[in-house]
Amino acid sequence: MDINTSRLWHRIGNLSRITDPDQPWTRRSFSRLFLDGRRWLASEFRAAGLEPLIDAGGNLVATLEGRDPNLKPIVIGSHSDTVPSGGRYDGILGVLAALEVAQSLIESGERLRHSLQVYDFLAEEPTEFGLSCIGSRSLAGALSSDMLDLIRPDGMTLREGLRLVGGDPDNLNLVRRPPNSIAAFVEVHIEQGRVLENEGIRIGIVTDIVGIHRERIMVTGRTDHAGATPMWLRADALVGASRIIEETYRRALAASTETKPFVATIGRIEVAPNAVNAVPGKVEMNIETRSGDEEAIATFADGLVRDLTPPLKKMNLTIVREQISHVSPTPCSNVVRETIRAAAAGLGLSARDLPSGAGHDGVFISRIGPIGMIFVPCRDGRSHAPEESIEPHEAADGTRVLADVVGRLDATCR
Ligand code: GLV
Ligand code: MN
Ligand code: MN
Repeated sequence: MDINTSRLWHRIGNLSRITDPDQPWTRRSFSRLFLDGRRWLASEFRAAGLEPLIDAGGNLVATLEGRDPNLKPIVIGSHSDTVPSGGRYDGILGVLAALEVAQSLIESGERLRHSLQVYDFLAEEPTEFGLSCIGSRSLAGALSSDMLDLIRPDGMTLREGLRLVGGDPDNLNLVRRPPNSIAAFVEVHIEQGRVLENEGIRIGIVTDIVGIHRERIMVTGRTDHAGATPMWLRADALVGASRIIEETYRRALAASTETKPFVATIGRIEVAPNAVNAVPGKVEMNIETRSGDEEAIATFADGLVRDLTPPLKKMNLTIVREQISHVSPTPCSNVVRETIRAAAAGLGLSARDLPSGAGHDGVFISRIGPIGMIFVPCRDGRSHAPEESIEPHEAADGTRVLADVVGRLDATCR
């Protein structure tokens, strides 16, 4: 069985063009464009001979029934949502690679022993509700009712958001799966780093997915008139925040080594009142730390805030922190990794192990079965940016490896 590269590539182009025209490439989960993308996806699934449905967790999923109903399903897929001004391949490639594998199987007339489930997981990227990986969480039973009560700035709750995309927040038990209930989950994704491209290697075998810890940090001072308040009487929250930002960068740089990567980012900041003629009285920002070292990501902000509290106090500023989320580092399954290695070798594609610095749905899916990820190179490691770029043969490489892995797992998994 071979895949159809031009069909795959056309689909990638078509889905990526369902974007906010003023901010390519943007298809935020829970938006009108996201639903347009889902409608397009559902029609492509049908054209492929699959019958897609939206499950209670808001995932779009289709099942290709296997010959042996006693076997657990093999699960493949990724996500169709993007970050704002994101790329054309993050997530999209994995969904359409999975669809291509299922369609090629149908066309070959071959029938697997295991059922094959193709997923477009809901909202893998961080949402305005402050939560990511919403669909994959629902499968793992990790979408709590507290989370469903999260409210985004326009007042919508996640519960309402789930209904909007066709999910059923009152019946999440319908999608929840117990541990050890799938044969394996495999996702194709762009690397989002430079390792494969720099070394001229065509396939990455993911060893583990980084842990991600997110907190909100609020700096409070006092809003005053920007003309009438002398410098020595100010409590400027933005000046305090800038010290936190700079210190975050300095400490993360010092903490990161080649063998133990550690990153910290303050990627979102809100200043109030954000007026040209007012001293900033309040700053709210998000700090995110990532590493394979769980202790390091969980404790980074402790030292930072402890050490900066006294100097900020001298500036009449207070700091308050609040944890948003914590996801532990997740190893990929050795069995799936070795299957990817064998598949790449069989196809004559060079491959190497590497960790993922990005978060993925596999983190949650690993709670219900073994997971693995197949990476393909992307230009200059650019991702979460409009410049994200891959070549058709790279999309095809990852998809061929996925097809081969599915065949191998089908032959060997119980
Ligand atoms: C998802 O792409 C993430 O790594 O934040
Ligand atoms: Mn992403
Ligand atoms: Mn992704």
